[in-house]
Amino acid sequence: MISLFNQSGSGRADAVVGPDAATRALSVTDVENEFVERVYTDISWWYDLFFGPTLHAGRLEAIRGLPLSAGDRILEIGVGTGINACLYPRDCRVTGIDFSASMLAKAGRRIRAHGVRNVELLEMDAADLQFEDDSFDLVYAPYVISVVPDPVQVTREMHRVCRPGGHVVVLNHFRSENRLMAWAERVLSPLTVHVGFKADVDLPEFIRQTGYEPLSIEKVNIPRIWSLVTFRKDGPAV
Ligand SMILES: C[S@@+](CC[C@H](N)C(=O)[O-])C[C@H]1O[C@@H](n2cnc3c(N)ncnc32)[C@H](O)[C@@H]1O
Repeated sequence: MISLFNQSGSGRADAVVGPDAATRALSVTDVENEFVERVYTDISWWYDLFFGPTLHAGRLEAIRGLPLSAGDRILEIGVGTGINACLYPRDCRVTGIDFSASMLAKAGRRIRAHGVRNVELLEMDAADLQFEDDSFDLVYAPYVISVVPDPVQVTREMHRVCRPGGHVVVLNHFRSENRLMAWAERVLSPLTVHVGFKADVDLPEFIRQTGYEPLSIEKVNIPRIWSLVTFRKDGPAV
């Protein structure tokens, strides 16, 4: 199900039914897992052709800057067709999760073709991770937060499974700070969900709702309209 609860472009919700106020404050569009899964099943055959090159500069920049050490346990949320999975240092242990079987099938073929042996792939919902608390050194969500129905719940889960002192990193497009662009993104968001993402997720509101203070926020990709948001999970490093 996809519902639009504000088409006025004002950025604030008008309707009293549907998603709660917190979700509405993040984006004018509201999606559910079934919808997103169907979209990714449909687009999996052309995902690499379009989203491969257009998002790749951001992927490379992000991976180069990840705070990684030999032997680290990495969790990639929304591993998709496995483009990042082949880019991590081979001395790290990587788990990639995704809830789309079609995307995971492509990821499996890609890592086998590249001879990648340090990556395991699991079918799982990012909003309900099947891992113990504190299981990973780094939890990374590249181009996923604007895809999932509940970005805040996914970010909380990412923090839960990250060890104290570890890092949670989000690479994502957020609503522009330019008013005209922001307006266009709100208008387009109900359309862009059909190709896999909401164009208008609000970064300050997202951070406010998660309750986590980012360590850094950098602009990445070409053009530089994507953000790399890094959090460090509180607690002593282990
Ligand atoms: C835009 S793609 C990003 C893929 C990859 N990270 C990349 O850099 O190309 C988003 C991925 O998130 C997955 N996804 C969306 N919602 C999810 C959820 N709730 N749980 C797990 N995966 C999800 C989709 O199936 C899709 O493969």
